Amino acid sequence: MKGIVLAGGTGTRMYPLTRLINKHLLPVGKYPMIVYGIDRLRKAGITDIIIVIGKQFSGLYAGFLGSGMEFGVNIAYRIQEEAGGIAEALGLARGFVADGERFVVLLGDNLFMDDLTPFVSSYELQPEGTAKVLLKHVNDARRYGVPVFDEKQQGLITTIEEKPAVPKSSYCVTGIYMYDTAVFDIISQIRPSERGELEITDVNNVYAGQGKLEYDILQKWWIDAGTFESLQEAGRRMKGMFP
Ligand code: G1P
Repeated sequence: MKGIVLAGGTGTRMYPLTRLINKHLLPVGKYPMIVYGIDRLRKAGITDIIIVIGKQFSGLYAGFLGSGMEFGVNIAYRIQEEAGGIAEALGLARGFVADGERFVVLLGDNLFMDDLTPFVSSYELQPEGTAKVLLKHVNDARRYGVPVFDEKQQGLITTIEEKPAVPKSSYCVTGIYMYDTAVFDIISQIRPSERGELEITDVNNVYAGQGKLEYDILQKWWIDAGTFESLQEAGRRMKGMFP
């Protein structure tokens, strides 16, 4: 299995700081945010990693992470010329994975304590051409993608509603996804959303509509560090994470 970390985007919710430095390089404890996702992958035995980054900050990423040697992984980089959505960024990683190969996709601003190993193992048992998303129970699901569960078949999601005013469950779809290379054909079929981006939720809904979207649930602490408030919480939580 390989790992794909998506760290492009403009981070407008964190302006003006993110005009100076990309969101995924902001400090969380002693490290830039991106390091934690890389470490989660490494702990699950995934050491071949591609990071998709915006061109404006590419030098900072390469300067800090280098080849990945210091972090126990091999890192390759792909440049997203302009922010075009999570699914577009993922599409840029095509070519990094061999036909039929499976991989874990992480949004670089998702920080979490769970070990990915059991989830990766259960995804490996899923049929070819299916996907998995990891969910987290949250108090207010309105700022996330929210799953609607299949009442007839346990373990499946029938659809995901993106940032619904009235969530149909109290779970959110985290930025931790598992696919095989079938995802690249789906990405090439979807159309840009109203905000002009290729949305990962549209990709996942193609799987969901075909009964091919499974899920597991994170048990430990998780945060989307995409706002100043959540960034501060992440900093407090992660302070002692690495020696
Ligand atoms: C994205 C996804 C959303 C998901 C969230 C998790 O939202 O679109 O479905 O719940 O990441 O971090 P964004 O934070 O980009 O608005």
